[in-house]
Amino acid sequence: MCDTPEVEGAESSWVPEWPAWWQRGVVYQIYPRSFFDASGDGIGDLAGIGEKADYLAWLGIDAVWLSPIYPTPDVDLGYDIADYLDVDPRFGTLEEFDAMLAALHERDIRAILDLVPNHTSDQHPWFIESRSGPGSPRHDWYVWRESRPDGSPPNNWESHFGGSAWTYAQPPGRWYLHSFAPGQPDLNWENPEVREALQDVMRFWLDRGVDGFRVDVLWLLGKDPGFADNPPNPDWHEGLPPRFRLLRTNSEGWPTSHERARLLRSVIDEYPERLMIGEVVLPPDRAVTYHGEHLDEAHMPHNFVLTELQEWSADAIRSAVEAYERLLPPGAWPNWLLGDHDFPRIASRLGPERMRLAHMLLLTLRGTPTWYYGDELGLPDASFRPGLLTLVDPPAAATPERDRLIIRTPMQWSPGPHAGFSEAEPWLPLASDDPTFTVERQRDDPDSTLTFVRFLLDLRGQTPALSVGTFRSLSAPPDVFSFQRDHPDGTVQVHLNFGDEPREVVVSQASRILLSTAGPTAPNGQEMDRVALGPYEGVIIGEPGRP
Ligand code: NOJ
Repeated sequence: MCDTPEVEGAESSWVPEWPAWWQRGVVYQIYPRSFFDASGDGIGDLAGIGEKADYLAWLGIDAVWLSPIYPTPDVDLGYDIADYLDVDPRFGTLEEFDAMLAALHERDIRAILDLVPNHTSDQHPWFIESRSGPGSPRHDWYVWRESRPDGSPPNNWESHFGGSAWTYAQPPGRWYLHSFAPGQPDLNWENPEVREALQDVMRFWLDRGVDGFRVDVLWLLGKDPGFADNPPNPDWHEGLPPRFRLLRTNSEGWPTSHERARLLRSVIDEYPERLMIGEVVLPPDRAVTYHGEHLDEAHMPHNFVLTELQEWSADAIRSAVEAYERLLPPGAWPNWLLGDHDFPRIASRLGPERMRLAHMLLLTLRGTPTWYYGDELGLPDASFRPGLLTLVDPPAAATPERDRLIIRTPMQWSPGPHAGFSEAEPWLPLASDDPTFTVERQRDDPDSTLTFVRFLLDLRGQTPALSVGTFRSLSAPPDVFSFQRDHPDGTVQVHLNFGDEPREVVVSQASRILLSTAGPTAPNGQEMDRVALGPYEGVIIGEPGRP
């Protein structure tokens, strides 16, 4: 159907024979303390997620990824874990976890947990034991080093949040490594006991029925065991933030990271149908290596290509997508995301006029989309700034523009008090007081973002070409990114106009619009041989009568 005259660019020509649930599905990330507060203390919780399971099913997603739910002193809002085998009391109990999981599973929604194996909290009993000194059986569970002869830290490694990656502790009178905040000491992955302990953590949750993990900073698990200094970054120049002065070649991404990815994956593979996503924030050519040479590492390393684009144009997106498709090892299944709890929200980054197009891009590319809660409403970043709150996001302490709290605000359910998130004052102010940004206002509005994304999810779910079909990009007018998805059950084309001028795409055979960003009511089902695209409009077209 509808082949445009020329076809060019990257192509992926295989369809999984028996697609796994995570290949067909859409993952929705929940920041638990901000989703729904069932207990009434202003903090979202697991019972709240369970209560909203009907919403998640209605929305049409297939899996949730929960940011950390474990006990935490909150130095890095949950990414500093004080006990891997429990639930933070503010979020609930293990029994409430089981109930939430059952509620999700009953609705055919899988649940993936965040696993943070690189570091714990400094309040974790393992670290408390470790820092008591070399006599402790767990001393070598963390990375301890002597000062350099001049009394300075053991090497020049820097924390991702700024400053040295080493903190001196007395006792034991040595420095410990922390790739993030001082309250997040790095575990010593050279120690087999640590590796086994983390494997057991995974089994604990897999036995409870979780469907997999998103592994935090997977590429950081391997570091130079000789602790050589990081070299200077030859591309650094005045004006770039100081944190880019050094390359991180020795402090992370060491070849042993792959061994460790395989080790984690081997636990996943002890259980049927489980998923391992790896957070790998590296240039795409290195990120894709975390699929593993034999596809035995992460099923999907997170793909940050769309979050890191400097320019949001058809050409830039098309080249980035094509380049990524070409880099993928044979048989590897990609993942796409537009943001998560670390990046500005799409509505604020791209502007409301381009948001639907971004959703359409995300949900029509080949690969598993990962979506961030609240984006389905077009929720913006909050406008509060550090200083107003007692909580401080660690990277924002030195660099206020790195504050990530503004993207972690409460989900907005209804126009009532606290947007229906909680009966109490929420732990963070709302992103917006505008009642339009609520599920209640948008769910029955045919022109809302929520209605649009539901149509999109529904169409994706019903159309194998969109979920698991092949991908090839098509020639297109300026500002338009066009591609085709083929599947034995049918073919669709996607035409996305990233420009502010109307454009026209000629299609060589009769087609009909299945969905347009101009609104779910726009498609008229009529056959046509050309498609007129308004500014920032995207359309999905299919053969008449199919799919
Ligand atoms: C990556 C997580 O996405 C981020 O939120 C966190 O601060 C760091 N890892 C440290 O765990």
